[in-house]
Amino acid sequence: MFKCTINGHEVEVPEGASVIEAFKLLKEDIAHYCWHPGLSIAGVCRLCMVQIDDGPRLHIACNTLVKDGMKITNQTEVVKEAVRWGMDFHLINHPLDCPICDQAGECGLQEQYMKYGQYDSSMAEKKVKKRKVVDLGERVVLDSERCILCSRCVRFTDEVTKTNELGIFNRGDHSEIGTFEDQPLDNKYSLNTVDICPVGALTSKDFRFQQRVWYLKDTDSICTGCSTGCSIKVYHNKEGLFRVKPVFNEKVNGHWMCDEGRDLYKHVNAPVRLKQILKSVGNEWFPLGLERALDHLNEAFSKAENISVLITAQHTVEEYKALKNWAQQLQDKTINFVYWKNNPESFDSFDGLLIRGDKNPNTKGLLEAGFEFADASVLDSSDLVLAPMPENPAVYPKYMEKLEQLSKLQTQLCLLSVSNITQHETINFADGTLAIPMKTAFEKAGHFINHQGLTQKIHKGRVIVKAALGLDELLQAIKIGKWIQPQLLKSRKTNESSKVSGELW
Ligand code: SF4
Ligand code: SF4
Ligand code: FES
Repeated sequence: MFKCTINGHEVEVPEGASVIEAFKLLKEDIAHYCWHPGLSIAGVCRLCMVQIDDGPRLHIACNTLVKDGMKITNQTEVVKEAVRWGMDFHLINHPLDCPICDQAGECGLQEQYMKYGQYDSSMAEKKVKKRKVVDLGERVVLDSERCILCSRCVRFTDEVTKTNELGIFNRGDHSEIGTFEDQPLDNKYSLNTVDICPVGALTSKDFRFQQRVWYLKDTDSICTGCSTGCSIKVYHNKEGLFRVKPVFNEKVNGHWMCDEGRDLYKHVNAPVRLKQILKSVGNEWFPLGLERALDHLNEAFSKAENISVLITAQHTVEEYKALKNWAQQLQDKTINFVYWKNNPESFDSFDGLLIRGDKNPNTKGLLEAGFEFADASVLDSSDLVLAPMPENPAVYPKYMEKLEQLSKLQTQLCLLSVSNITQHETINFADGTLAIPMKTAFEKAGHFINHQGLTQKIHKGRVIVKAALGLDELLQAIKIGKWIQPQLLKSRKTNESSKVSGELW
């Protein structure tokens, strides 16, 4: 370890650490754009200026290694002046787009101008015009005028995905980010470039112009898209969920997540959800009040002797535990568990970075719960089937096929589902089938165990469907004969807002 002082505070850093890393360790402010802890050092923005041992020459902190005994500061007037000049230079051609820019509210340029800039620009020349809407690929749009050429996005495609789509083209103030011969930016991690872009130059097609970021709140969670279990933040407000971004997790996903994981919030939003308990009668669905639904469930479960539970690896450790306990207490009945595994052909595949073929967040949790699985043929001979459907139908290619098979069983069905299964007019369920709204991972707390065996926590965020239940809550209602009060949304009359700020690392 090396000892150094930063702005008068002593700090110990491992040998080989850079001066900017020492600043970050000490949580001392330092201006910077191009440095990112997940990428190589470019040293192009020249904003991370520091003075070392009172020397006359300034250094950039990202490309200077700490030496034992170094005295480093960015508080002297000479450093502050250099940073102000650097900022002025970056903003020469930057458009005054803040009122219409998606990055506003979490923009590194806004934040750093307020912290380190605040100069009066003396530029009289007109700004250089560049292309405002460049379609870079399936998910990303570029506004060339806003780009400050930090090269983070280029280094990401060179170093992380190794797909090399992006480059800097042309010279001087005509330099622009682009793709070679307009080939699309279409790797499976392309939206990370939007996250790391310190300005609003790269925006996500899905999120742009949808919400102002200060009207969003966030909840920490785990992506349910595959068994990697990337750490994420889910952004939401009373209108629903709007975006998902990765959170640094050294053990799992580093700084990144895949594009597919970003779509997961879509199955949570109201338009696709089952919102109340429905009962099928004569190929039509009728709403059931809570009390009638409970009577119906009690009758069905007390009469049945041979119950099958169709289970996937999309539920929490706590839900599996509740299921196990519930089954153990029903000594007088036969309970069979049938494992519904998706994508068996590609289940064990891995793309070498993050994406796994096992499209479930909790396969380890399900297997560790110790269920004994029976062959799917037991479903035919059961007199009641409880099916907590997979939360996200998109990752179960045979979802519709399975629903159809279930509908054809000559048995009482109790389906717990996130998606509105009653909208599939081609599937006719037997009379008495119950469709019960299920909570998503964003609406409940609990744990998932990822492919490495790492137990990770999910936090309860915004509840989109008030009447939705977790599997454990449904089982408890059946067991004790009453509903646990479903979560009620607090009504808010005004827009919710939160204090946001640019995260540059
Ligand atoms: S588009 Fe964004 S990340 Fe890429 S070089 Fe420009 S400012 Fe940097
Ligand atoms: S790699 Fe898997 S867990 Fe990570 S973001 Fe993608 S789908 Fe989600
Ligand atoms: S030059 Fe150091 S962060 Fe850009």
